[in-house]
Amino acid sequence: MNQQTLSMRLERVAAHVPAGARLADIGSDHGYLPVALMRRGAIVAAVAGEVALTPFRSAERTVRENDLDQWITVRLADGLTAIEPGDGITAISICGMGGETIRDILDCGKARLSGQERLILQPNGGEQPLRQWLMENGYCILCEEVLRENRFDYEIIVAERTGPVMYTAEELYFGPLQMQARSSAFLIKWQRLLREKQRTLSSFAKARQAVPEEKVQDVARQARWIADLLA
Ligand SMILES: C[S@@+](CC[C@H](N)C(=O)[O-])C[C@H]1O[C@@H](n2cnc3c(N)ncnc32)[C@H](O)[C@@H]1O
Repeated sequence: MNQQTLSMRLERVAAHVPAGARLADIGSDHGYLPVALMRRGAIVAAVAGEVALTPFRSAERTVRENDLDQWITVRLADGLTAIEPGDGITAISICGMGGETIRDILDCGKARLSGQERLILQPNGGEQPLRQWLMENGYCILCEEVLRENRFDYEIIVAERTGPVMYTAEELYFGPLQMQARSSAFLIKWQRLLREKQRTLSSFAKARQAVPEEKVQDVARQARWIADLLA
């Protein structure tokens, strides 16, 4: 993967960035996503935010080597503090982190959100708490994808603030749009997770030390939901 050839995961994220966007890519690491989009003429400007020094320098280097310093600003910053009012950001991507981390970045940085930005989020697990945050903050999920690359299942969630929105507990768990679309990648992911939950439940049953009943019930409930989804 590099600034020309993105991974399939980042390529799918790129597909959800509106043409002509001013993008803030938070946790940009090497900066490949904003640089690839800028090189393709798909966006007009970007901010690449990074909290850690080594990836920050890596993003700076990618931008410099592609002569894009005029259009892409790289900032060493925690979460949405990378965004400044004058940036006029219209889309924010936060990819390759746990869903809880993405949720915390959004929650801590709420004051920096105008509410006009499209959010393109690619959590590695923890999708449920992330969807919960989106719902509680009036973000409607516009698009969702599951994809498998290098033996990992990745999810992409695209959302915009629309006002009050309500999802059921199952919709928050599986994704409201994915439950309807039932793509093969989605079904395969949940078949795999069902086997995992069943293995966990049988290891609980064999465990010498008692597993708290609440934990057993939680995993059993998840297994039931998944079995019902796949039935
Ligand atoms: C696994 S990398 C993902 C890089 C790229 N977004 C991708 O999807 O390929 C996660 C990056 O997020 C950065 N990161 C984690 N928490 C952050 C935060 N609160 N603010 C900014 N960057 C953060 C890490 O330093 C790391 O470089």
